[in-house]
Amino acid sequence: MNALGIDIGGSGIKGAPVNLVSGELLEERYRVETPQPATPEAVAIAVDELVRHFNWKGKIGCGFPAAMKYGVVQTASNIDKSWIGTNANELFSKKTGQSVVVLNDADAAGMAEIKMGAGKDVKGTVLMITIGTGIGTALFSEGKLMPNTEFGHLRMGKMIAEAYASGAVRKNEELSWSDWAKRFNEYLLYIEFLLWPDLIILGGGLSKKHDKFLHYFTAKTKVVPAHFMNNAGIIGAAMSV
Ligand code: BGC
Repeated sequence: MNALGIDIGGSGIKGAPVNLVSGELLEERYRVETPQPATPEAVAIAVDELVRHFNWKGKIGCGFPAAMKYGVVQTASNIDKSWIGTNANELFSKKTGQSVVVLNDADAAGMAEIKMGAGKDVKGTVLMITIGTGIGTALFSEGKLMPNTEFGHLRMGKMIAEAYASGAVRKNEELSWSDWAKRFNEYLLYIEFLLWPDLIILGGGLSKKHDKFLHYFTAKTKVVPAHFMNNAGIIGAAMSV
């Protein structure tokens, strides 16, 4: 069985058809810029562009950078505030003429890693952290997801974690790898102190550059890059249909 997976992020909207048994992308992924402002109508047009690019007819799963309840957007940190209360399932399904299921982007990425990637068969508590425009988290206990954890919004001193240590912050503040990694390490130590996970999986745009920063981390918890790297969000979204 196949489904189209779409990952909506603060800077790009990426997608590809996915083989749900192997997790393989069936075609090269396609990316469009996230429209600014990222209003519901503008993002729906971009999603429809992706669907048309693949000439896709069938089920679609979509990761979205917000807490989601039954397809309805609950928060809006890196997207237009007008999203709050919008039923994204209905909006995207109507626009594309296909059945679209929307879930939190980090939860989607985590699902791919737990089922087929770095978290497969790992016992206990696994935390997926996606590092991109924001910081997203997905928490699993014995393989079961507790949806919509928003640990990227933990307070660190006067700042929230994602305003201190996200991938976008590294770029915008032109931080060196070691300076950024020291900040992210503080975040990891805080997370470890609160959750005591058995494994932390790092995904998102920065995961493919893990050789630049993993060695700076000092947490006792094992920290590994996502097996599917930045495609975990696409694969997990497709798997959620
Ligand atoms: C949002 C999360 C999202 C994360 C990564 C945060 O700003 O609140 O819901 O998972 O960014 O996109």
